[in-house]
Amino acid sequence: MEKTLILIKPDAFGKGHTGDILKRYEDEGFKIIAAKVMQMDEKIAAIHYAEHIGKNFYGDLVEFMTSAPLMALVLGGENVIQRVREINGATNPAKADEGTIRKLYAEGVTKNAVHASDSPASAAREIPIFFSEIEQFG
Ligand code: RTP
Ligand code: MG
Repeated sequence: MEKTLILIKPDAFGKGHTGDILKRYEDEGFKIIAAKVMQMDEKIAAIHYAEHIGKNFYGDLVEFMTSAPLMALVLGGENVIQRVREINGATNPAKADEGTIRKLYAEGVTKNAVHASDSPASAAREIPIFFSEIEQFG
């Protein structure tokens, strides 16, 4: 089964949108393989967002992602990586399609409600940052 790493970011988690977002994914037929509430520190953020170190938005991104708890998930299902990216919508909610999670819940380009792995290689790299093998039930 294909797997992807999801983060329900501190904005959406803190505002109580987690249940609605999980329902959305489950209604698509995806399985929750792992889940936990946690708070990122700068070290985890630097590993997870390694590709963005040095970009002009990196400081704001890390400040936001470490500011409060979030929910980390592994979702599984057919073509889950690409389909979740579509359900989440564009990075900038102003450009996100109607009905996408970011259109519904994101405040802006930084506080944009959710993260999802963008490729099989990213999913394979990101999932073990947050979950060990024995924490995953697929
Ligand atoms: P994600 O990784 O969270 O699923 O989002 P993404 O692939 O759509 O976006 P990515 O380019 O990977 O950027 C990661 C996160 O950094 C923040 N960001 N801010 N101010 C900006 O221009 C900017 N660009 C990106 C967002 O929180 C984005 O989700
Ligand atoms: Mg990304």
